[in-house]
Amino acid sequence: PKDVGILALEVYFPAQYVEQSELERYDGVEAGKYTRGLGQQQMGFCAAHEDINSLCLTVVQRLVERGRLSWDAIGRLEVGTETVIDKSKAVKTVLMELFRESGNTDVEGIDTTNACYGGTASLFNAASWVESSAWDGRYAVVVCGDIAVYATGNARPTGGAGAIAMLVGPNAPLVLERGLRGTHMEHAYDFYKPDLSSEYPVVDGPLSIQCYLRALDRCYAVYRRKAESQWQQAGIKRPFTLDDFKFIIFHTPFCKLVQKSVGRLLLNDFLAAPSPDTAAGLYKGLQPFRGLKLEDTYTSKEVEKAFQTASQEIFNQKTKPSLLLSSRNGNMYTPSMYGCLASLLAQCSAQDLAGSRIGAFSYGSGLAASMFSLRVSQDAAPGSPLDQLLSSLADLPARLDSRKRVAPQDFADIMKRREETHHLGAGGSRSVLVVGGYRWSWKTSAVHGFRPARSDSGAES
Ligand code: ACO
Repeated sequence: PKDVGILALEVYFPAQYVEQSELERYDGVEAGKYTRGLGQQQMGFCAAHEDINSLCLTVVQRLVERGRLSWDAIGRLEVGTETVIDKSKAVKTVLMELFRESGNTDVEGIDTTNACYGGTASLFNAASWVESSAWDGRYAVVVCGDIAVYATGNARPTGGAGAIAMLVGPNAPLVLERGLRGTHMEHAYDFYKPDLSSEYPVVDGPLSIQCYLRALDRCYAVYRRKAESQWQQAGIKRPFTLDDFKFIIFHTPFCKLVQKSVGRLLLNDFLAAPSPDTAAGLYKGLQPFRGLKLEDTYTSKEVEKAFQTASQEIFNQKTKPSLLLSSRNGNMYTPSMYGCLASLLAQCSAQDLAGSRIGAFSYGSGLAASMFSLRVSQDAAPGSPLDQLLSSLADLPARLDSRKRVAPQDFADIMKRREETHHLGAGGSRSVLVVGGYRWSWKTSAVHGFRPARSDSGAES
């Protein structure tokens, strides 16, 4: 199969949010810490009876219904999530409920977990399946979803929630570029969830940021090397730089980190360049940083500031349009980077996107990270697959505007209720809530006038 990649993309986010400026006042921190310091505008959060199953059911149902797909046309479905609802049963098997009426049970794939990386692992698996001898000609669906919540304290404003479903197959408007992947994995305890009775992670904030930036450096180095060697085979000898990405999207724990990451990539280009011009242009005034080693710079505010300033325009052009969902809904964990992709597609014109290369950096604590790229198809004509994909995402800003704003105190109360019920798990009394949550979230997320095709019996919650 040719041009394997993403054909369609569906986004689900909660129907309510808190304003970060109000949260600053409520938390008693200095005004501007969350909004300017972290770059976050609003944070979406789930109601007490939503869970990972309801999020994923909703988003998959919508992908299939809005795309007028048949449930029989799907031969693989896998889920990337770190939101544990059961220690054995996968979210994937819950999603098989959606296939029941069609009779299609021949659907490969299961859940993948490592912090925010599971969605990317699932996407790679799905693309590999389509390119393999096991492929039976049908579509793959990749679902990523999470409920990102932190205990009260300095990490709480970096939460969020949501789910994204992607249709994967050949002749895609967003093609996964073959052979262009850089991965970095290592053992770290920067963010993890050792307490199975709590939804909250244990997180070492500063360490997690260092791990993220180190993984970015390593992935970019491998990606670049592979791109350069592909060029070399085609007789082209030149270094790969940020210029070779028209857009760059990142896993986005908070928007400020992404802006710093663009600066970090520029630092990589600068240190790799044989003789950069520091008298004029992009690298003007950066001569004092010339002899640095990447590994010595993770805590240097001076380096961070210099390269953030130098890369400001690059950030504005290549990355800023991708931060809509991240700044207004927060970190969704596994769907975070795919939310950036959706935002980019919603905010840029087809002409801007056609033929471009989108660099993508996915990071999951613990840690697993990859940089890869998507090539956007040249054909942006009305009715083309690219045009259809963009049209399906055009209402993203309006959908964000239509959410309900909730006061920080009510948000804190809902968090408390989740703490009290979380340990009940999916079995016992909670199983009613799972069904209720699933139907409930179908209904309240009816931004497109969406109605469930089928309804299970049971009381409404
Ligand atoms: N006005 C403007 N900016 C301000 C203000 C203010 N009044 N007050 C503080 N700031 C700035 C700070 O200078 C800092 O910016 P800088 O880093 O550019 O200097 C920024 O706001 C944040 O302030 P800190 O004091 O560094 O924040 P704190 O340490 O309290 O918490 C952290 C931030 C560590 C990110 C925390 O929210 C956290 O642990 N989050 C979860 C972990 C995380 O997301 N890690 C990222 C990768 S792993 C993952 O995806 C989960």
